Amino acid sequence: MCGIVGIIDQKPVAKNIVSALKCLEYRGYDSAGIATLDKGHLECIRATGKLINLEKKLKKYSLPGTIGIGHTRWATHGEPSEQNAHPHTTEKVAVVHNGIIENFKELREMLNKKGYTTTTQTDTEVIAKLLTLYLDNNLSMKEALETTLKSLQGAFALAIISPMDLDKIYFARKGSPLVIGIGENSNYIASDAIALASYTHQVIYPEEGDWGYITQKNYQIFNKDNKVTKHPIHTLNLSTQTASKGAYRHFMEKEIFEQSTVLNETLSSYLTPEKNELSLPKFIFDKNKLNRLTIIACGTSYYAACIAKYWIEKYAKIPVEVDIASEFRYRQPALGSAENHACLFISQSGETIDTLEALRYVKAKGLPTISIVNVTHSSISRETDSMWPTFAGPEIGVASTKAFSCQLMTLACFTLGLAKTKINQKEFSDLLESLKSISMWLEKMPNLRQECLTAARTLAKATDVLYLGRGTNFPMALEGALKLKEISYIHAEAYAAGEMKHGPIALIDALTPIVALAPNDNLIEKTISNLQEASARGGKIISLGDAESLKKLETISIHTIEIPTVPTFIQPFILTLPMQLLAYETALLKGTDVDQPRNLAKSVTVE
Ligand code: M6R
Repeated sequence: MCGIVGIIDQKPVAKNIVSALKCLEYRGYDSAGIATLDKGHLECIRATGKLINLEKKLKKYSLPGTIGIGHTRWATHGEPSEQNAHPHTTEKVAVVHNGIIENFKELREMLNKKGYTTTTQTDTEVIAKLLTLYLDNNLSMKEALETTLKSLQGAFALAIISPMDLDKIYFARKGSPLVIGIGENSNYIASDAIALASYTHQVIYPEEGDWGYITQKNYQIFNKDNKVTKHPIHTLNLSTQTASKGAYRHFMEKEIFEQSTVLNETLSSYLTPEKNELSLPKFIFDKNKLNRLTIIACGTSYYAACIAKYWIEKYAKIPVEVDIASEFRYRQPALGSAENHACLFISQSGETIDTLEALRYVKAKGLPTISIVNVTHSSISRETDSMWPTFAGPEIGVASTKAFSCQLMTLACFTLGLAKTKINQKEFSDLLESLKSISMWLEKMPNLRQECLTAARTLAKATDVLYLGRGTNFPMALEGALKLKEISYIHAEAYAAGEMKHGPIALIDALTPIVALAPNDNLIEKTISNLQEASARGGKIISLGDAESLKKLETISIHTIEIPTVPTFIQPFILTLPMQLLAYETALLKGTDVDQPRNLAKSVTVE
């Protein structure tokens, strides 16, 4: 969480820092700040709330410096006040930080004893004070940073400027993402390359433990052993348009409607150029020996994993466990051997610390690791033995939409790769053909928006909503409930429809709408029985189904949302669209901040 930026240029940098921070606002948006160096003077402006507040302040007090750092915050230590906002400054340094300094209390005690009194509730302030302590002891800025880094425990991406070292921005990274951008007469650092797309497409990804500095025309990187190190320069294919909403009202809306395109792109990347055969990355395990697969992820990525469990067990006949990353890593899971057990990690950002640490745990045990990630230069993608990219493109809305469906597409291809020798040729071809038809079906729902809006009017009045489904519709229900919670702040819970009678049925009343994910499948009759049980107890049912299932549900539904009749395998892809639109329209009616919902951040790099 938190986004950091550093720019060093010939011209004043404040405006460009704010523009770059705007692209990082998805990482946190409870306060923001900027510090620049101008003719040896360190100046800093901070504001609570979103960047717009900082921009307003910058109109009153201009910052003419040509070297500067900026920060957009997701609070971990201390409320989102101006005092706790970054940059944290002393007379000698200004620091911005993404991550958590775990030993900040010990450091703060030591610093306070030495007379370097801290005044904020943040963990970051100790970094500024430590650097100052060492600079006061006549170390150079480079030596001060090298010494400071030795004391820091936890995760950090740092950018630092100092009037003691006028032509550099120092940086360091451990456990939090950081990218260096190489410009013509300017250089950059940022938490995510997307922030630099307007300035440069040439980027370097520092490794764990790397630190160093950029100057206007140069840069220097040291590794964790303080030896000079070099990394390749990558040319990014990032359009400045990717961070724009275009004609849409919100990034989320744009990203929902991009799905048919990006699903095609993701599928195409796993097909031969003629698009008639699968062309997958090599499996890094022996498919015949594999008898256990563990999928580890968080949030929406976890729900994508839950859907894949149904597919992989059904078609590839391999037992699958799905684990929440934050639980997996601390429960001493019993693992198999490198020959028979593989672990798959799913993450849009590729930086989620819980998933990353679970991956490191598994790697230390020697099991093969695979990742499905959207950000291909991310830590998770770099640290797994094999990476299967999704091609969703940058996802800016905090609530995941297109990244989820592209994760499903990659998982579907992964499933077919595992299933190839386990199912007959006809079934295999039918499944592959069904994947190719998804984009076409997504374009064929002319009444969808209106139907979702009508149902959303009911949801927007509710304080609690239930989502029900069976089979893959159960994890889809979990994802639907998460979307509604995240952006409309309405309490929503999902249950396996057949589980209702074991307790949750007590929740049903006329005020709690039930969103039923009920397309025609081999379980539809059982789902309908469960919904009838709910209806008999006053439950108001909003049914998402195809023509056939909706006909059966007509008498007990207060609203129906129709999807086309498609093979069961691809139903999750088609249901995704109404499920997301339902949450989106409800949030619009509630007037919430759809792209930047309260308390959330897109990339969760703290535990
Ligand atoms: O980047 P990741 O896929 O690892 O993120 C995992 C979750 O934090 C993420 O899916 C989160 O649940 C989203 N806000 C869902 O919309």
